[in-house]
Amino acid sequence: MGVFSASTGHEQVVFCEDAASGLKAIIAIYSTALGPALGGTRFYPYETEDDALHDVLNLSRAMAYKAACAGLDLGGGKAVIIGDPAKDKSEALLRAYGRFVQSLNGRYFTACDVGTYVQDMDVVARECTFVTGRSPEHGGAGDSAVLTAYGVFQGMRAAAEAVWGKPTLAGRRVGVAGVGKVGHHLVDHLLDDGASVVVADVDPAAIDRVRSAHAEVEAVDADALVSQDMDVYAPCALGGALSDETVPVLQAKIVCGAANNQLDHPGIEKVLADGGVLYAPDYVVNAGGLIQVADEIEGFNFDRAKAHAAKIFDTTQQVFAIAADEGVPPAVAADRFAERRMAEVGRLRSVYLR
Ligand code: NAI
Repeated sequence: MGVFSASTGHEQVVFCEDAASGLKAIIAIYSTALGPALGGTRFYPYETEDDALHDVLNLSRAMAYKAACAGLDLGGGKAVIIGDPAKDKSEALLRAYGRFVQSLNGRYFTACDVGTYVQDMDVVARECTFVTGRSPEHGGAGDSAVLTAYGVFQGMRAAAEAVWGKPTLAGRRVGVAGVGKVGHHLVDHLLDDGASVVVADVDPAAIDRVRSAHAEVEAVDADALVSQDMDVYAPCALGGALSDETVPVLQAKIVCGAANNQLDHPGIEKVLADGGVLYAPDYVVNAGGLIQVADEIEGFNFDRAKAHAAKIFDTTQQVFAIAADEGVPPAVAADRFAERRMAEVGRLRSVYLR
């Protein structure tokens, strides 16, 4: 796959190899129109170099859109390290990676993603100043799931207002698919707001954690949740939750959850809209984690980051308003919102404007 011939729109793609430590990494910067590109480092045993390149190009583009919608002065970037984190991760490798990130001189800030943890970022930071997602002992924000869940809840309140006239989930039945780091915090917000909650998870321990804290929460099989009689469906597990199989059986009027890439394929956003389901776009409502780690750049302040994440309520409202005004599904409206901010505030080339 060629980056130039594929016209992906990326500003810069850097291939990094350090033979001594075995590091093979790709750093992709989609855009610095709004500021330095921020995005995590995924450590994953990709089968081919092309798979790694494909993933990093998609992920870095998505980060640019997420940051733009969240009102951050950040661009979008992402990095992948090719390898098995359980076998290949070492201090030497992470430090070599840190030197490459440093060489970009602040065009790219890294953070955690699948396969990398706050302790790894502390090691990367021994070679590099452009690192977020660090441990609290080093001024880091800690677990980003806290504000991710808070932001998803704000987006859900905005969706509830759009559908039922009031920004509350009180009296509604909400299904949370996946009660891991984000999902279990979301359950807390929903119960506090007066919703009834039904959950599903493939890991029985995750269900037990939620039910031992809240006995009133109902649990169903992972496959059965989507077709439950419920008002809101919150996908908080893996991507692709909204597919040709699940959308036809969906009972909920609102979909709003933390999972990235919920739409299984282009066009499914229209099927949802045509079926009268309001979809709160994933990258709009799950930006709380990005807001949390981005706040570290200024020196982490939880209250400031939480106040910023609360604005996800307003952003979600704005996205729904664009969707209504322009007659497009909310997912398309979110892309337009992000592209306009990059173009108006930043320096994005007009070719990417619709
Ligand atoms: P996690 O790994 O802690 O939790 C995911 C949960 O989903 C696990 O308990 C897992 O057992 C469960 N699960 C997996 N497959 C399932 C299935 N088919 N049906 C039901 N449950 C299933 O991950 P985390 O951090 O809670 O993230 C959840 C989602 O939110 C992911 O898609 C992630 O990319 C996204 N996200 C997370 C952010 C964060 O700050 N942690 C930020 C933005 C997005």
